Amino acid sequence: MAREREQAHPVTFGNKMVKVAVAGGTGDVGRTIVEVLKDNPRHEAVVFTRRATGNLLGVPSVIVDYSDVNSLRHILEEQQIHTVISALGYDGDALSTAQLNLIRAADASSSTQRFAPSAFACAYTPDMIDTLPALDDYFRAVDELKSSSLQWTIFMNGYFMDYLAPGKIKSYLRPLPSVIDIENKIAAVPGNGDVPITFTYSFDAARFVVASLDAEEWPEESRMAGDVATWNSLVSLAEEISGSQFQVLRDDIEKLQRGEVTELPIHALAYEHMSKRAFQAFSAASSLWTQDPKIMHIAGEVNARFPEIQTLTVRRLFEKCWSASASH
Ligand SMILES: NC(=O)c1ccc[n+]([C@@H]2O[C@H](COP(=O)([O-])OP(=O)(O)OC[C@H]3O[C@@H](n4cnc5c(N)ncnc54)[C@H](OP(=O)(O)O)[C@@H]3O)[C@@H](O)[C@H]2O)c1
Repeated sequence: MAREREQAHPVTFGNKMVKVAVAGGTGDVGRTIVEVLKDNPRHEAVVFTRRATGNLLGVPSVIVDYSDVNSLRHILEEQQIHTVISALGYDGDALSTAQLNLIRAADASSSTQRFAPSAFACAYTPDMIDTLPALDDYFRAVDELKSSSLQWTIFMNGYFMDYLAPGKIKSYLRPLPSVIDIENKIAAVPGNGDVPITFTYSFDAARFVVASLDAEEWPEESRMAGDVATWNSLVSLAEEISGSQFQVLRDDIEKLQRGEVTELPIHALAYEHMSKRAFQAFSAASSLWTQDPKIMHIAGEVNARFPEIQTLTVRRLFEKCWSASASH
């Protein structure tokens, strides 16, 4: 399959328009990518979805049945899809069935050459499966891609910066407030707070993803970074920019390992889309991940490839939202 595909479509994308399917383009991260992609005149986007959505953000959608590899392959070929970006969620069988079948269909499709699996996060390690069982299917997807003839890359952006300022900047992400509650001048810092963490604004991540469509080669990992900061430095920055002293609490590792974090007033925003229990468990797990720089400190290798993309920094974000001159 690889040789046939290479002959039909030489692997030079530098000045070639490609048609891109965003699977799960109706979701939080997917919609962000679709919005940036639709504004790029060089490529054509289509959203793969399980339900009738009409035109999403002016981009056509195609209803797909993820349980049927043959029908997926047929749609990929009929639509002449060159690249699949999977932004499927982690719920239900999205990764265990839908994404694996989509990879198999893309590998079988004569038009499809590239696949980005649903990731857009940190450098996952197999031992994280204990806290996030869906990662088992993420690693199965990576194995499936390794044994395919597709070019593939895993987009990694660390922690979405949007979560530091929920409701304060444009974002399609459902709020998952972080350990800092700037509105209420309080923080509950996990661990010693001195570990570097990568934060990337969702629209910057989408810009790197879309820019990568033009890259002639796709490395197995595409690591991007909006900014790098520690929890302690973020608290200091928030104090400096808001001109207020914060109450700083500490969540020790044992507490996080019990699946608990100190509740902050801003956490109520998350309870609108998930239970408090689920939020506590998720926050504790992700706070534990921020203790390991190998997991959460994502170096900006993709940034170096696309120097024209200037990312939002945490300082700029806080200034926009909380400096004395910011419009509230
Ligand atoms: N780094 C971070 O801080 C961070 C934060 C959030 C998300 N992420 C990552 O970004 C990726 C996307 O997450 P998200 O929150 O944007 O996803 P999402 O909004 O929960 O779901 C995206 C789409 O997946 C489709 N979907 C859901 N369940 C499905 C199923 N069982 N079978 C097939 N399709 C299904 C739905 O599309 P249709 O209904 O239209 O088919 C949905 O709109 C994930 O890999 C996630 O881990 C990272």
